[in-house]
Amino acid sequence: MQKITLTTLNKMKQSGEKITCLTAYDASFSYQLAEAGVDIILVGDSLGMVVQGEQSTVPVTMDDMAYHTQLVAKGNEKAERQAFVIADMPYMSYSTVEDALLNAKQLMQAGGQMVKVEGGQWLCESILALTERGIPVCGHLGLTPQSVDALGGYKVQGRDQQAAIKIKQDVAALVKAGIRMLVLECVPTELAAEISQSVDIPVIGIGAGPKTDAQVLVIYDMLGISPRFYAKFVKNFMQQADDIPSAIKAYVDEVKNGTFPGEEHSFS
Ligand code: KIV
Repeated sequence: MQKITLTTLNKMKQSGEKITCLTAYDASFSYQLAEAGVDIILVGDSLGMVVQGEQSTVPVTMDDMAYHTQLVAKGNEKAERQAFVIADMPYMSYSTVEDALLNAKQLMQAGGQMVKVEGGQWLCESILALTERGIPVCGHLGLTPQSVDALGGYKVQGRDQQAAIKIKQDVAALVKAGIRMLVLECVPTELAAEISQSVDIPVIGIGAGPKTDAQVLVIYDMLGISPRFYAKFVKNFMQQADDIPSAIKAYVDEVKNGTFPGEEHSFS
C-alpha cells in the first residue's frame, strides 16, 4: 500500500513530475480517484454548486465540509494507493484566528490532511497559528470563489500589472506565514508560471495554464455532468472514455505528460 504525503508531493515538484488533483465529495469517487493514480483529492466547497445545486460556494457550512471530508477519507483509505486529502474551509469559517483553529480541527479530525483557505495577506495570522500547531495549510489566490460578489463575478484575475503585483505580494506573504501548497485559479499562464518557479511549495493551477506544478478540476466538470456553465479551462474527459475510471485515468495521463491543459484551456 502506498500513501501520498506532503514529502512525496514536494519531491514531485523538485523532480518536475506533474502532480494531479481532482475534487471528490464522497467515498466512491475518492476511491476511484485514488485507484486511478490521482495524487491529491480536494474536498472542495465547490460541492455547494455541483452537489447541493447552489449558485455559489457561499452557502456551504462547516457541517457540510466535515461530513463530505469524512466520506472522502473513507473511500481513499480503501484504495491500494492513497491520495493526499485537502479539505476546503468554507465561507467565513476562518475569518478570525479562533474560528480558523476550531474549524480546521474539525476538518482534520474528519480525515483531511491539509486545509485550504481563500485570500491574501489578511490571512497570515491564522495561517501562522495553524501551521505552528501542526496543521498544514494550502492557500488559494487569483479567482477566490467565496469572494465572487466582491470580485464582480467569475473573472480572470491578475491581468493588469497592478493586479499581478498584488497577487505576487500575497503569495510572498502567505509563503512567509507557512502555507505548504497554493492553488492559483484563473490567472494568466505566465503569471502562474512565474509564481510556480519562485516558490518551493507545489502550486496547483486551475485555469492557470500548463506551467504550474499541479492541476486540479472539479470532478463533475471533467465528467461533463455539472448542471452549470463550463469555464474555458474545463475539458470533458468522458467524451473519449468508455467509463468514469477510464476518464479519470485519461486526465491523470494528460496532466502527467503535459498535454492538459492546452492553450485552449488557458488565459493570457
Ligand atoms: O472548491 C473547489 O473545488 C476548489 C477548486 C476549484 C480549486 O477550490
